[in-house]
Amino acid sequence: MTLPLNRQILASLLLMGALTGCRGQVTQDAPVVPIRNMYNQPRYDSQERSAFFQDGRTMRPQVEGTVSREDDPNIGVATGRADDNAEWVLEVPRQVVQRNGGGAAFVARGQERYNIYCAPCHGEGGDALGPVAARVSGLGVNSMVPPTFHDDRLRSIPDGQVFATITHGIRNMPAYAQSIPTDDRWAIVTYVRALQLSEQGRPSRPE
Ligand code: HEC
Repeated sequence: MTLPLNRQILASLLLMGALTGCRGQVTQDAPVVPIRNMYNQPRYDSQERSAFFQDGRTMRPQVEGTVSREDDPNIGVATGRADDNAEWVLEVPRQVVQRNGGGAAFVARGQERYNIYCAPCHGEGGDALGPVAARVSGLGVNSMVPPTFHDDRLRSIPDGQVFATITHGIRNMPAYAQSIPTDDRWAIVTYVRALQLSEQGRPSRPE
């Protein structure tokens, strides 16, 4: 029996599809790239040694004094240090609060960001009862246990210093400048202050 022509064409297309199609396996072979001109390019891997630069680093350090163009041009807002670069900024800069919708919205934003970035270690109440803190103290690594925010020293350090702690990290605490934008870091500072106020005067927890 001969099939009509259009059936023959359909059948041969199906057969070709079956022969050349996906075999359902993962291959380890290199992909077939007919035109290779942009496929292979010379590049360095991160941390790779460079024969070109005198210090041997392919990852170039920032030019000294580089100021991020995305950051706030106000040095106090950007760094937590007052303009003369010596004293800490004492309070969360007003303009940052205002441009983020005012006090209540700013604290709410700070709470949300705090619970994401800080609570795993510092605990939702700022009392160093986060799951990471519990884990490291269970392992006996006391140097990795964060301090509670509810002690006199941390209650009295300036807002700018808390901001700089988030920005640069401190001793065993990592830096968050890369993952938390400037205004959000100030929002977190505001929320940490709110946590401290809410705990002040409360009888200390039983040990
Ligand atoms: C991975 C765990 C971890 C996370 C996440 C973390 N911290 Fe810390 N933090 C620590 C540890 C550990 C210390 C104590 C460091 C030390 O003294 O060695 C610390 C110390 C601090 C201090 C006290 C600094 C001082 O002057 O002694 C402040 C304030 C602080 N953290 C704020 C924050 C805020 C705000 C966040 C969220 C943006 C945050 N931390 C996120 C682990 C963490």
